[in-house]
Amino acid sequence: MSRSAHPAGPRHADVLPEGHYSAPPADLNALDGKVWSQTVTRDADGVVTVGGIPVTRLAEEFGTPAYFLDEADFRARACAWRTAFGHDADVFYAGKAFLSRAVVRWLHEEGLNLDVCSGGELATALSAGMPADRIALHGNNKSTDEIRRAVEAGVGRIVLDSFQEIVRVAHIARELGKRQRVQIRVTVGVEAHTHEFIATAHEDQKFGIPLAGGQAAEAVRRALQLDGLELIGIHSHIGSQIFDMSGFEVAAHRVVGLLKDIRDEHGVELPEIDLGGGLGIAYTSDDDPREPHEIAKALTEIVTRECEAARLRTPRISVEPGRAIVGPTAFTLYEVGTIKPLDGLRTYVSVDGGMSDNIRTALYDAEYSVALVSRTSEAEPMLARVVGKHCESGDIVVKDAFLPADLAPGDLIAVPATGAYCRSMASNYNHVTRPPVVAVRDGEARVIVRRETEEDLLRLDVG
Ligand code: LLP
Repeated sequence: MSRSAHPAGPRHADVLPEGHYSAPPADLNALDGKVWSQTVTRDADGVVTVGGIPVTRLAEEFGTPAYFLDEADFRARACAWRTAFGHDADVFYAGKAFLSRAVVRWLHEEGLNLDVCSGGELATALSAGMPADRIALHGNNKSTDEIRRAVEAGVGRIVLDSFQEIVRVAHIARELGKRQRVQIRVTVGVEAHTHEFIATAHEDQKFGIPLAGGQAAEAVRRALQLDGLELIGIHSHIGSQIFDMSGFEVAAHRVVGLLKDIRDEHGVELPEIDLGGGLGIAYTSDDDPREPHEIAKALTEIVTRECEAARLRTPRISVEPGRAIVGPTAFTLYEVGTIKPLDGLRTYVSVDGGMSDNIRTALYDAEYSVALVSRTSEAEPMLARVVGKHCESGDIVVKDAFLPADLAPGDLIAVPATGAYCRSMASNYNHVTRPPVVAVRDGEARVIVRRETEEDLLRLDVG
Protein backbone atom coordinates (compact mmCIF):
# COMPACT_ATOMS: atom_id res chain seq x y z
CA MET A 1 0.00 0.00 0.00
CA SER A 2 2.89 2.38 0.52
CA ARG A 3 4.21 4.77 -2.05
CA SER A 4 7.46 6.60 -2.65
CA ALA A 5 8.81 8.59 0.25
CA HIS A 6 10.93 10.86 -1.95
CA PRO A 7 8.85 13.74 -3.22
CA ALA A 8 10.20 16.30 -5.62
CA GLY A 9 9.05 19.83 -6.40
CA PRO A 10 8.06 22.68 -4.09
CA ARG A 11 7.76 21.97 -0.38
CA HIS A 12 7.12 23.89 2.82
CA ALA A 13 10.08 22.52 4.76
CA ASP A 14 13.70 21.82 3.90
CA VAL A 15 13.57 18.16 4.79
CA LEU A 16 10.41 16.17 4.26
CA PRO A 17 9.72 13.41 6.77
CA GLU A 18 9.25 9.75 5.94
CA GLY A 19 5.71 9.09 4.82
CA HIS A 20 3.32 7.47 2.42
CA TYR A 21 3.26 10.11 -0.26
CA SER A 22 4.48 10.74 -3.76
CA ALA A 23 5.61 14.04 -5.18
CA PRO A 24 3.15 16.93 -4.87
CA PRO A 25 0.85 17.03 -7.89
CA ALA A 26 1.79 19.55 -10.57
CA ASP A 27 -1.53 21.36 -10.07
CA LEU A 28 -3.20 21.20 -6.66
CA ASN A 29 -6.43 22.54 -8.13
CA ALA A 30 -6.78 19.69 -10.63
CA LEU A 31 -9.27 16.92 -9.82
CA ASP A 32 -8.12 13.49 -10.96
CA GLY A 33 -11.11 11.74 -12.59
CA LYS A 34 -9.78 8.43 -11.26
CA VAL A 35 -10.63 9.29 -7.67
CA TRP A 36 -13.51 11.76 -8.05
CA SER A 37 -17.01 10.73 -9.17
CA GLN A 38 -18.10 11.38 -12.73
CA THR A 39 -19.97 14.67 -12.35
CA VAL A 40 -17.41 16.37 -10.09
CA THR A 41 -15.78 19.43 -11.65
CA ARG A 42 -14.79 23.02 -10.77
CA ASP A 43 -17.03 25.90 -11.79
CA ALA A 44 -15.88 29.26 -13.17
CA ASP A 45 -15.33 30.57 -9.61
CA GLY A 46 -13.08 27.65 -8.77
CA VAL A 47 -15.66 26.00 -6.51
CA VAL A 48 -16.02 22.24 -6.89
CA THR A 49 -19.47 21.09 -7.98
CA VAL A 50 -21.16 17.69 -8.00
CA GLY A 51 -24.27 17.01 -10.05
CA GLY A 52 -24.09 20.69 -10.99
CA ILE A 53 -24.27 21.98 -7.38
CA PRO A 54 -21.37 23.89 -5.76
CA VAL A 55 -20.06 22.36 -2.53
CA THR A 56 -20.36 25.75 -0.84
CA ARG A 57 -24.15 25.59 -1.37
CA LEU A 58 -24.27 21.95 -0.26
CA ALA A 59 -22.37 22.82 2.93
CA GLU A 60 -24.78 25.67 3.68
CA GLU A 61 -27.83 23.53 3.12
CA PHE A 62 -26.74 20.21 4.66
CA GLY A 63 -23.86 21.15 6.95
CA THR A 64 -20.52 19.41 7.36
CA PRO A 65 -19.25 16.80 7.65
CA ALA A 66 -21.47 15.08 5.10
CA TYR A 67 -21.17 12.43 2.43
CA PHE A 68 -22.31 13.51 -1.04
CA LEU A 69 -23.22 10.63 -3.32
CA ASP A 70 -23.27 11.16 -7.08
CA GLU A 71 -26.40 9.26 -8.09
CA ALA A 72 -25.70 9.37 -11.84
CA ASP A 73 -22.26 7.88 -11.21
CA PHE A 74 -23.68 5.16 -8.95
CA ARG A 75 -26.25 4.17 -11.57
CA ALA A 76 -23.63 4.24 -14.33
CA ARG A 77 -21.29 1.96 -12.40
CA ALA A 78 -24.07 -0.44 -11.42
CA CYS A 79 -25.21 -0.54 -15.04
CA ALA A 80 -21.64 -1.08 -16.29
CA TRP A 81 -21.27 -4.14 -14.05
CA ARG A 82 -24.68 -5.47 -15.09
CA THR A 83 -23.94 -4.98 -18.78
CA ALA A 84 -20.41 -6.36 -18.55
CA PHE A 85 -21.64 -9.66 -17.10
CA GLY A 86 -24.67 -9.89 -19.41
CA HIS A 87 -27.68 -12.15 -19.06
CA ASP A 88 -25.78 -15.35 -18.31
CA ALA A 89 -24.45 -14.05 -15.01
CA ASP A 90 -25.71 -12.23 -11.93
CA VAL A 91 -24.30 -9.20 -10.17
CA PHE A 92 -25.07 -9.01 -6.46
CA TYR A 93 -24.22 -5.60 -5.00
CA ALA A 94 -22.61 -6.15 -1.56
CA GLY A 95 -24.79 -4.05 0.74
CA LYS A 96 -22.16 -3.95 3.50
CA ALA A 97 -20.26 -1.33 1.47
CA PHE A 98 -23.19 1.09 1.86
CA LEU A 99 -26.90 0.38 2.03
CA SER A 100 -29.93 2.62 2.18
CA ARG A 101 -33.41 2.34 0.76
CA ALA A 102 -32.66 4.74 -2.07
CA VAL A 103 -29.65 2.62 -3.04
CA VAL A 104 -31.80 -0.52 -3.01
CA ARG A 105 -34.25 1.15 -5.40
CA TRP A 106 -31.48 2.25 -7.78
CA LEU A 107 -30.06 -1.28 -7.79
CA HIS A 108 -33.47 -2.76 -8.49
CA GLU A 109 -34.00 -0.32 -11.36
CA GLU A 110 -30.55 -1.05 -12.80
CA GLY A 111 -31.20 -4.82 -12.72
CA LEU A 112 -28.77 -5.83 -9.97
CA ASN A 113 -29.27 -8.32 -7.18
CA LEU A 114 -28.30 -7.72 -3.57
CA ASP A 115 -26.04 -9.45 -1.06
CA VAL A 116 -27.02 -8.83 2.57
CA CYS A 117 -25.20 -10.09 5.66
CA SER A 118 -27.47 -9.27 8.58
CA GLY A 119 -31.11 -8.98 9.57
CA GLY A 120 -30.78 -5.19 9.37
CA GLU A 121 -29.56 -5.27 5.78
CA LEU A 122 -32.28 -7.80 4.90
CA ALA A 123 -34.94 -5.54 6.44
CA THR A 124 -33.63 -2.52 4.49
CA ALA A 125 -33.64 -4.49 1.23
CA LEU A 126 -37.16 -5.85 1.69
CA SER A 127 -38.60 -2.56 2.90
CA ALA A 128 -37.34 -0.83 -0.25
CA GLY A 129 -38.98 -3.41 -2.49
CA MET A 130 -36.06 -5.58 -3.60
CA PRO A 131 -37.70 -8.86 -4.68
CA ALA A 132 -36.66 -11.54 -2.18
CA ASP A 133 -35.56 -13.97 -4.88
CA ARG A 134 -32.89 -11.43 -5.90
CA ILE A 135 -31.38 -11.34 -2.40
CA ALA A 136 -28.54 -13.52 -1.08
CA LEU A 137 -27.97 -13.88 2.67
CA HIS A 138 -24.39 -14.13 3.91
CA GLY A 139 -22.67 -14.30 7.30
CA ASN A 140 -20.49 -16.63 9.32
CA ASN A 141 -22.86 -16.66 12.30
CA LYS A 142 -26.38 -15.91 11.13
CA SER A 143 -28.88 -16.10 13.97
CA THR A 144 -31.77 -18.52 13.73
CA ASP A 145 -34.03 -15.46 13.61
CA GLU A 146 -32.13 -14.08 10.60
CA ILE A 147 -32.26 -17.44 8.84
CA ARG A 148 -35.97 -17.82 9.56
CA ARG A 149 -36.78 -14.33 8.26
CA ALA A 150 -34.76 -14.98 5.11
CA VAL A 151 -36.37 -18.34 4.40
CA GLU A 152 -39.84 -16.97 5.13
CA ALA A 153 -39.26 -14.03 2.81
CA GLY A 154 -38.10 -16.44 0.10
CA VAL A 155 -34.55 -15.17 -0.48
CA GLY A 156 -32.91 -16.45 -3.65
CA ARG A 157 -30.04 -18.04 -1.79
CA ILE A 158 -28.44 -18.46 1.59
CA VAL A 159 -24.68 -18.87 1.54
CA LEU A 160 -23.80 -21.56 4.09
CA ASP A 161 -20.66 -20.79 6.03
CA SER A 162 -20.27 -23.66 8.53
CA PHE A 163 -21.27 -27.24 9.26
CA GLN A 164 -23.68 -26.10 11.98
CA GLU A 165 -25.42 -23.80 9.56
CA ILE A 166 -26.03 -26.56 7.04
CA VAL A 167 -28.19 -28.29 9.64
CA ARG A 168 -29.75 -25.08 10.96
CA VAL A 169 -30.94 -23.82 7.59
CA ALA A 170 -32.21 -27.27 6.57
CA HIS A 171 -34.14 -27.55 9.82
CA ILE A 172 -35.73 -24.12 9.57
CA ALA A 173 -36.64 -24.63 5.91
CA ARG A 174 -38.32 -27.94 6.72
CA GLU A 175 -40.23 -26.40 9.60
CA LEU A 176 -41.52 -23.76 7.22
CA GLY A 177 -42.33 -26.39 4.60
CA LYS A 178 -39.79 -24.95 2.15
CA ARG A 179 -36.74 -26.06 0.24
CA GLN A 180 -34.10 -23.30 0.49
CA ARG A 181 -31.66 -22.65 -2.35
CA VAL A 182 -28.15 -22.57 -0.87
CA GLN A 183 -24.52 -22.22 -1.84
CA ILE A 184 -21.58 -23.42 0.26
CA ARG A 185 -18.84 -20.87 0.92
CA VAL A 186 -15.42 -22.44 0.68
CA THR A 187 -11.95 -21.10 1.48
CA VAL A 188 -9.67 -21.95 -1.37
CA GLY A 189 -6.35 -21.26 0.35
CA VAL A 190 -5.33 -18.21 -1.71
CA GLU A 191 -3.26 -15.42 -0.15
CA ALA A 192 -4.91 -12.30 -1.59
CA HIS A 193 -2.65 -9.26 -1.92
CA THR A 194 -4.46 -6.90 0.39
CA HIS A 195 -4.55 -5.85 4.05
CA GLU A 196 -4.60 -8.82 6.44
CA PHE A 197 -7.97 -7.79 7.95
CA ILE A 198 -9.74 -7.87 4.58
CA ALA A 199 -8.21 -11.04 3.09
CA THR A 200 -10.59 -13.97 3.32
CA ALA A 201 -9.44 -16.96 1.27
CA HIS A 202 -6.53 -18.23 3.34
CA GLU A 203 -7.46 -21.02 5.71
CA ASP A 204 -6.54 -19.46 9.05
CA GLN A 205 -9.60 -17.19 9.42
CA LYS A 206 -13.25 -17.33 10.40
CA PHE A 207 -15.07 -17.46 7.04
CA GLY A 208 -16.03 -20.46 4.96
CA ILE A 209 -15.30 -24.16 4.92
CA PRO A 210 -11.78 -25.16 3.81
CA LEU A 211 -11.30 -27.09 0.60
CA ALA A 212 -8.20 -28.51 2.24
CA GLY A 213 -8.53 -31.83 4.00
CA GLY A 214 -11.78 -32.63 2.20
CA GLN A 215 -13.91 -30.45 4.52
CA ALA A 216 -15.77 -28.72 1.71
CA ALA A 217 -16.45 -32.06 0.01
CA GLU A 218 -17.89 -33.32 3.30
CA ALA A 219 -20.09 -30.21 3.61
CA VAL A 220 -21.43 -30.88 0.09
CA ARG A 221 -22.15 -34.52 1.02
CA ARG A 222 -24.19 -33.39 4.02
CA ALA A 223 -26.04 -30.63 2.20
CA LEU A 224 -27.04 -32.95 -0.64
CA GLN A 225 -28.65 -35.33 1.84
CA LEU A 226 -30.94 -32.80 3.50
CA ASP A 227 -34.49 -32.33 2.17
CA GLY A 228 -34.73 -28.73 3.28
CA LEU A 229 -31.81 -27.65 1.06
CA GLU A 230 -31.35 -27.27 -2.67
CA LEU A 231 -27.60 -26.99 -3.20
CA ILE A 232 -27.17 -24.73 -6.23
CA GLY A 233 -23.48 -23.89 -6.13
CA ILE A 234 -20.16 -23.07 -4.52
CA HIS A 235 -19.11 -19.64 -3.28
CA SER A 236 -15.66 -18.13 -2.86
CA HIS A 237 -14.72 -14.61 -1.76
CA ILE A 238 -10.98 -14.05 -1.58
CA GLY A 239 -10.79 -10.59 0.01
CA SER A 240 -11.27 -6.90 -0.68
CA GLN A 241 -9.47 -4.03 -2.47
CA ILE A 242 -7.66 -6.45 -4.80
CA PHE A 243 -6.10 -5.37 -8.12
CA ASP A 244 -4.35 -8.54 -9.13
CA MET A 245 -6.62 -11.03 -10.97
CA SER A 246 -4.36 -14.00 -10.26
CA GLY A 247 -6.06 -14.69 -6.90
CA PHE A 248 -9.42 -15.02 -8.71
CA GLU A 249 -7.80 -17.31 -11.24
CA VAL A 250 -6.54 -19.71 -8.55
CA ALA A 251 -9.89 -19.51 -6.73
CA ALA A 252 -11.84 -20.34 -9.92
CA HIS A 253 -9.47 -23.20 -10.65
CA ARG A 254 -9.98 -24.71 -7.19
CA VAL A 255 -13.75 -24.16 -7.10
CA VAL A 256 -14.14 -25.82 -10.51
CA GLY A 257 -11.97 -28.67 -9.17
CA LEU A 258 -14.53 -29.13 -6.40
CA LEU A 259 -17.42 -29.06 -8.91
CA LYS A 260 -15.66 -31.81 -10.81
CA ASP A 261 -15.18 -33.91 -7.66
CA ILE A 262 -18.88 -33.42 -6.83
CA ARG A 263 -19.85 -34.57 -10.33
CA ASP A 264 -17.59 -37.63 -10.01
CA GLU A 265 -18.85 -38.56 -6.55
CA HIS A 266 -22.54 -37.68 -6.74
CA GLY A 267 -23.28 -37.50 -10.45
CA VAL A 268 -24.51 -33.92 -9.91
CA GLU A 269 -23.31 -30.85 -11.83
CA LEU A 270 -23.96 -27.83 -9.62
CA PRO A 271 -25.34 -25.02 -11.80
CA GLU A 272 -23.79 -21.95 -10.13
CA ILE A 273 -20.49 -20.53 -8.97
CA ASP A 274 -20.04 -17.26 -7.09
CA LEU A 275 -16.63 -15.61 -7.12
CA GLY A 276 -17.46 -12.95 -4.52
CA GLY A 277 -16.47 -9.32 -4.59
CA GLY A 278 -13.22 -7.60 -3.76
CA LEU A 279 -12.24 -5.60 -6.83
CA GLY A 280 -10.10 -2.60 -5.94
CA ILE A 281 -10.80 1.08 -6.64
CA ALA A 282 -8.58 4.16 -6.94
CA TYR A 283 -8.17 5.99 -3.64
CA THR A 284 -5.18 7.93 -4.95
CA SER A 285 -3.83 8.72 -8.41
CA ASP A 286 -1.34 5.86 -7.99
CA ASP A 287 -4.08 3.19 -8.04
CA ASP A 288 -5.10 1.63 -11.36
CA PRO A 289 -8.31 -0.36 -11.05
CA ARG A 290 -9.72 -2.51 -13.84
CA GLU A 291 -12.93 -1.73 -15.67
CA PRO A 292 -15.97 -4.00 -15.11
CA HIS A 293 -15.87 -5.27 -18.71
CA GLU A 294 -12.23 -6.36 -18.31
CA ILE A 295 -13.06 -8.11 -15.04
CA ALA A 296 -16.12 -9.82 -16.54
CA LYS A 297 -14.12 -10.99 -19.52
CA ALA A 298 -11.26 -12.31 -17.38
CA LEU A 299 -13.51 -14.15 -14.91
CA THR A 300 -15.75 -15.65 -17.60
CA GLU A 301 -12.73 -16.84 -19.57
CA ILE A 302 -11.12 -18.42 -16.52
CA VAL A 303 -14.28 -20.30 -15.49
CA THR A 304 -15.07 -21.43 -19.06
CA ARG A 305 -11.52 -22.64 -19.61
CA GLU A 306 -11.40 -24.54 -16.31
CA CYS A 307 -14.81 -26.13 -16.97
CA GLU A 308 -13.85 -27.21 -20.48
CA ALA A 309 -10.72 -28.84 -19.07
CA ALA A 310 -12.84 -30.64 -16.46
CA ARG A 311 -15.55 -31.51 -19.04
CA LEU A 312 -18.19 -29.69 -17.03
CA ARG A 313 -21.02 -27.51 -18.31
CA THR A 314 -20.02 -23.90 -17.54
CA PRO A 315 -22.02 -22.86 -14.47
CA ARG A 316 -23.85 -19.55 -14.17
CA ILE A 317 -21.39 -17.09 -12.64
CA SER A 318 -22.23 -14.50 -10.04
CA VAL A 319 -20.10 -11.78 -8.47
CA GLU A 320 -20.59 -9.49 -5.47
CA PRO A 321 -18.93 -6.12 -5.98
CA GLY A 322 -19.56 -3.57 -3.23
CA ARG A 323 -16.67 -1.12 -3.12
CA ALA A 324 -16.20 -1.11 -6.90
CA ILE A 325 -19.74 0.21 -7.39
CA VAL A 326 -20.31 2.64 -4.53
CA GLY A 327 -16.75 3.51 -3.44
CA PRO A 328 -15.89 6.04 -6.13
CA THR A 329 -19.37 7.63 -6.17
CA ALA A 330 -19.12 9.70 -2.96
CA PHE A 331 -16.87 12.18 -1.22
CA THR A 332 -16.87 13.45 2.35
CA LEU A 333 -17.05 17.21 2.75
CA TYR A 334 -15.39 18.71 5.82
CA GLU A 335 -14.77 22.21 7.13
CA VAL A 336 -11.28 23.04 8.27
CA GLY A 337 -11.26 24.05 11.94
CA THR A 338 -7.68 24.37 13.15
CA ILE A 339 -4.27 24.28 11.47
CA LYS A 340 -1.03 23.38 13.24
CA PRO A 341 2.21 23.65 11.24
CA LEU A 342 5.15 21.64 12.63
CA ASP A 343 8.41 22.73 11.06
CA GLY A 344 10.34 19.93 9.41
CA LEU A 345 7.42 17.57 9.89
CA ARG A 346 4.01 18.37 8.44
CA THR A 347 0.96 20.52 8.99
CA TYR A 348 -1.94 19.06 10.96
CA VAL A 349 -5.28 20.11 9.50
CA SER A 350 -8.20 19.38 11.82
CA VAL A 351 -11.65 18.87 10.34
CA ASP A 352 -15.11 18.61 11.88
CA GLY A 353 -15.37 14.79 11.49
CA GLY A 354 -12.74 12.08 11.68
CA MET A 355 -12.45 8.42 12.58
CA SER A 356 -16.19 8.28 13.39
CA ASP A 357 -17.02 8.90 9.71
CA ASN A 358 -13.97 7.17 8.22
CA ILE A 359 -12.33 4.45 10.29
CA ARG A 360 -10.50 2.95 7.31
CA THR A 361 -7.28 4.95 7.71
CA ALA A 362 -6.91 3.97 11.37
CA LEU A 363 -8.01 0.38 10.83
CA TYR A 364 -6.35 -0.61 7.56
CA ASP A 365 -3.70 2.03 7.06
CA ALA A 366 -5.80 3.07 4.07
CA GLU A 367 -4.66 5.92 1.82
CA TYR A 368 -6.91 8.71 0.62
CA SER A 369 -6.64 11.86 -1.44
CA VAL A 370 -7.87 15.29 -0.39
CA ALA A 371 -8.49 18.63 -2.09
CA LEU A 372 -9.41 22.18 -1.22
CA VAL A 373 -12.85 22.46 -2.83
CA SER A 374 -14.38 25.81 -1.79
CA ARG A 375 -11.87 27.82 -3.85
CA THR A 376 -8.73 27.42 -5.91
CA SER A 377 -5.32 28.42 -4.65
CA GLU A 378 -2.01 29.25 -6.27
CA ALA A 379 -0.08 28.81 -2.99
CA GLU A 380 2.71 26.27 -2.85
CA PRO A 381 1.93 22.73 -1.70
CA MET A 382 2.31 21.90 1.96
CA LEU A 383 2.56 18.39 3.31
CA ALA A 384 -0.57 17.93 5.39
CA ARG A 385 -2.11 15.34 7.63
CA VAL A 386 -5.88 15.61 7.80
CA VAL A 387 -7.07 14.67 11.26
CA GLY A 388 -10.42 14.56 12.99
CA LYS A 389 -11.86 15.99 16.19
CA HIS A 390 -11.76 12.80 18.27
CA CYS A 391 -9.81 12.27 21.46
CA GLU A 392 -7.26 9.96 19.97
CA SER A 393 -4.03 10.66 18.10
CA GLY A 394 -4.77 7.81 15.66
CA ASP A 395 -7.79 9.82 14.51
CA ILE A 396 -6.39 10.38 11.02
CA VAL A 397 -8.46 10.75 7.86
CA VAL A 398 -5.69 11.32 5.31
CA LYS A 399 -2.24 10.43 6.48
CA ASP A 400 -0.07 12.33 4.03
CA ALA A 401 -1.31 14.59 1.27
CA PHE A 402 -0.51 17.97 -0.23
CA LEU A 403 -2.82 20.92 0.33
CA PRO A 404 -2.15 24.57 -0.54
CA ALA A 405 -0.06 26.39 2.06
CA ASP A 406 -2.64 29.20 2.36
CA LEU A 407 -5.30 26.80 3.68
CA ALA A 408 -7.33 28.55 6.36
CA PRO A 409 -10.00 27.75 8.94
CA GLY A 410 -13.41 27.86 7.26
CA ASP A 411 -12.12 26.39 4.00
CA LEU A 412 -13.96 23.31 2.76
CA ILE A 413 -11.90 20.27 1.92
CA ALA A 414 -13.18 17.00 0.48
CA VAL A 415 -11.93 13.42 0.61
CA PRO A 416 -12.99 11.44 -2.49
CA ALA A 417 -13.79 7.73 -2.82
CA THR A 418 -15.53 7.47 0.55
CA GLY A 419 -18.70 5.80 -0.76
CA ALA A 420 -17.75 2.34 0.52
CA TYR A 421 -17.18 1.27 4.12
CA CYS A 422 -17.25 4.80 5.52
CA ARG A 423 -20.89 5.58 6.40
CA SER A 424 -21.51 1.85 6.80
CA MET A 425 -18.70 1.61 9.37
CA ALA A 426 -19.36 4.99 11.01
CA SER A 427 -19.53 5.14 14.80
CA ASN A 428 -20.59 7.47 17.58
CA TYR A 429 -17.17 7.60 19.19
CA ASN A 430 -17.03 10.54 21.60
CA HIS A 431 -20.81 10.88 21.07
CA VAL A 432 -20.19 12.49 17.74
CA THR A 433 -23.27 12.18 15.55
CA ARG A 434 -23.00 10.35 12.24
CA PRO A 435 -23.10 12.52 9.08
CA PRO A 436 -25.89 12.42 6.52
CA VAL A 437 -25.69 10.90 3.06
CA VAL A 438 -26.97 13.31 0.44
CA ALA A 439 -27.66 12.07 -3.08
CA VAL A 440 -26.96 14.64 -5.80
CA ARG A 441 -28.26 14.39 -9.34
CA ASP A 442 -28.96 16.85 -12.15
CA GLY A 443 -28.85 19.96 -9.98
CA GLU A 444 -30.92 18.46 -7.16
CA ALA A 445 -29.73 17.25 -3.80
CA ARG A 446 -31.75 15.16 -1.38
CA VAL A 447 -30.95 13.54 1.93
CA ILE A 448 -31.12 9.73 1.70
CA VAL A 449 -29.79 9.07 5.22
CA ARG A 450 -30.33 12.01 7.56
CA ARG A 451 -27.77 13.38 9.97
CA GLU A 452 -27.91 11.78 13.38
CA THR A 453 -28.82 14.23 16.14
CA GLU A 454 -27.93 14.45 19.78
CA GLU A 455 -31.60 13.63 20.47
CA ASP A 456 -31.06 10.33 18.61
CA LEU A 457 -28.17 9.55 20.93
CA LEU A 458 -30.10 10.51 24.05
CA ARG A 459 -33.09 8.44 22.97
CA LEU A 460 -30.96 5.29 23.10
CA ASP A 461 -29.66 6.20 26.55
CA VAL A 462 -32.59 5.10 28.67
CA GLY A 463 -30.95 6.11 31.91
N1 LLP B 1 -18.95 -10.72 -0.87
C1 LLP B 1 -18.58 -11.12 0.36
C2 LLP B 1 -18.91 -12.46 0.80
C3 LLP B 1 -17.89 -10.24 1.21
O1 LLP B 1 -17.53 -10.65 2.42
C4 LLP B 1 -17.59 -8.94 0.75
C5 LLP B 1 -16.87 -8.00 1.60
C6 LLP B 1 -18.01 -8.56 -0.53
C7 LLP B 1 -18.68 -9.49 -1.32
C8 LLP B 1 -17.77 -7.20 -1.09
O2 LLP B 1 -16.43 -6.87 -1.20
P1 LLP B 1 -15.98 -5.55 -1.98
O3 LLP B 1 -16.33 -5.72 -3.46
O4 LLP B 1 -16.75 -4.40 -1.40
O5 LLP B 1 -14.54 -5.45 -1.75
N2 LLP B 1 -14.41 -2.92 5.64
C9 LLP B 1 -13.37 -3.30 4.71
C10 LLP B 1 -13.88 -4.25 3.65
C11 LLP B 1 -14.52 -5.48 4.24
C12 LLP B 1 -15.10 -6.35 3.16
C13 LLP B 1 -15.95 -7.39 3.75
N3 LLP B 1 -16.55 -8.26 2.79
C14 LLP B 1 -12.78 -2.03 4.09
O6 LLP B 1 -13.21 -0.95 4.43
O7 LLP B 1 -11.86 -2.12 3.28
